[in-house]
Amino acid sequence: AKSLTISDLAAMKRNGDKISCLTAYDASFAVLLDQVGIDVLLVGDSLGMVIQGANSTVPVTVDDMAYHCRCVAGAAQRAFIVADLPFASYAEPTQALANAARLMQQGMARMVKLEGAKIDVVRFLVDQGVPVCGHLGLLPQSVNRLGGYRVQGRDAAQAEAILREAQQLEQAGAGLLVLECVPASLARTISQTLAIPVIGIGAGVDCDGQVLVLYDMLNIGAGNRPRFSRNFMAGAASIEDAVARYHQAVKTAQFPGLEHSY
Ligand code: KIV
Ligand code: NA
Repeated sequence: AKSLTISDLAAMKRNGDKISCLTAYDASFAVLLDQVGIDVLLVGDSLGMVIQGANSTVPVTVDDMAYHCRCVAGAAQRAFIVADLPFASYAEPTQALANAARLMQQGMARMVKLEGAKIDVVRFLVDQGVPVCGHLGLLPQSVNRLGGYRVQGRDAAQAEAILREAQQLEQAGAGLLVLECVPASLARTISQTLAIPVIGIGAGVDCDGQVLVLYDMLNIGAGNRPRFSRNFMAGAASIEDAVARYHQAVKTAQFPGLEHSY
């Protein structure tokens, strides 16, 4: 199959077609997700937790990301591949470019994702030909500053700030935006305001697409699964069936439900 491009994803938003996304870290899952038809594979720095067993994403390095991205990108035929720039790898533009280049050249990523309103970094990367996905709301790389994982943008001033940052990211040239753990009403406003696709996680059903951590939705691991995830293995005949059910549930806006939203 022909690889999806950022233009295909933008067209999906314009047509009102939901975008399905899951994290992937290895070739076997990449093939499975790709064959089900998942549109975007995110090589997330959540691999620090689900692959490396760390308690946050902070220990993950650019080497780790490039390795796992290569494993995924070499295996997927159709899905669009996005890779996280990890903690402290994009403090200033030229550092961000050098690390993005490694994810794209060694890792074969099609786009890099970075957390926060790093507007100057995003503009520089885009100018150099690097497609960028923003990430606002809960920023897991900042967990040690935030003091925990909790919903962001609950009060009006904070919500206004997140909306403004989203608009600045779009103006700086970001091609996608992930919104994590924000009230569904805020995510709806941002999705309607921006022309670029908005992919939600814990952000309600009105985003242009959805993403979950693969191991959460497959109910792998002993850790507490977040409220916004769902165990798609429940009632599924196989891993492939669980992924197909997720894909269908996203495409038909059956997931997330109110019980997964804020
Ligand atoms: O690392 C990750 O898995 C992510 C998603 C949860 C958005 O950034
Ligand atoms: Na991430």
